[in-house]
Amino acid sequence: MKIAVFSSKAYDKEYLNQANGSWGHEIEYFEVPLNRKTAKLATGAGAVCAFVNDKLNRDTLAALRELNIGLVALRCAGFNNVDIEAAGEMGIRIMRVPAYSPHAVAEHAVALILTLSRKTHKAYNRVRDANFSLENLVGFDLEKKTVGLIGTGKIGQIFAGIMMGFGCRIVAHDLYPNDELKNMGVEYLSAEEVFSRADILSLHCPLTPDTAQIVNSKTLGMMKQGAMLINTSRGKLINTEDVITALREKKLGYLGIDVYAEEEKLFFRDLSEHIIDDEKITQLMTFPNVLITAHQGFLTREALTEIAGTTMQNISDFAGGKISSNDVTTEMVA
Ligand code: NAI
Repeated sequence: MKIAVFSSKAYDKEYLNQANGSWGHEIEYFEVPLNRKTAKLATGAGAVCAFVNDKLNRDTLAALRELNIGLVALRCAGFNNVDIEAAGEMGIRIMRVPAYSPHAVAEHAVALILTLSRKTHKAYNRVRDANFSLENLVGFDLEKKTVGLIGTGKIGQIFAGIMMGFGCRIVAHDLYPNDELKNMGVEYLSAEEVFSRADILSLHCPLTPDTAQIVNSKTLGMMKQGAMLINTSRGKLINTEDVITALREKKLGYLGIDVYAEEEKLFFRDLSEHIIDDEKITQLMTFPNVLITAHQGFLTREALTEIAGTTMQNISDFAGGKISSNDVTTEMVA
């Protein structure tokens, strides 16, 4: 089958080509994101392969349908960027990679916490400049701190286990509490209680109508003075303006984000020679207690191998007319 891969980077090519070895599909790579205008690049393909910020709204899906594309193979777990209902109406199958390496994202959340708490990003730059001063590098111990989680699915569960290893107390909120975590000592509470008890709050829930802007002026107001907020899930879980206000007022002590509400205009490309036309992110970039990474939580060798392998399996299942548990259905959205 011919596959048009959008938003492709060098690492996508490397891992997808490797995974395609035994399948022998014909793959064409496009660096541009998939949207209504770029969809026509997929002419002649039977499937498209898309990533987190590709806009698979009704218009894009209609353009793909016109080209007789029968499958959108997402090389990610989240599907909030796809109009699943429209895809169902048009008979376009949507498949995803439900799990690859939850460790990759959980460990990245921990990396953000440790960098912020021990200021290793500042120390690295200082020492490279022969500045061996320790002024303003005072950090804090993680031991005995309370870590709050919103979402204790695959990633949240692993994150909770790692933070317990540091000697943290874990409080969590999830629609479906996990018995294994309860037995390990995780205390399930209301979202409000988790916000108010956490020294470090980490978001591990999907973006849904219920969770959109779950971090806002009201919930930030419930948080401890100087608390840390970590978001490796989806940018729109946070109201960025409210977070900027909370940072200014020193209510929020630290912010570590791997995702940003308006990231599709910025992330995954080199804009170092451009003027960044996004006041909120440029403001955030000036705060000394804010650490931003550009959606790299998934970017480990192990995760890329899993993503590429499952994506090729999904495409091959589609080509062979096989059913799969990796289909995204309208029931899942409901
Ligand atoms: P998962 O589906 O295993 O777990 C999500 C958990 O959130 C579930 O336990 C679910 O019950 C809970 N949840 C749903 N709605 C909720 C609500 N209103 N309040 C509280 N909890 C709620 O998903 P997984 O694999 O753990 O991934 C979590 C998120 O991480 C994904 O949705 C995605 O947005 C993000 N992600 C980020 C990546 C990155 O590179 N930064 C890579 C992969 C995923």
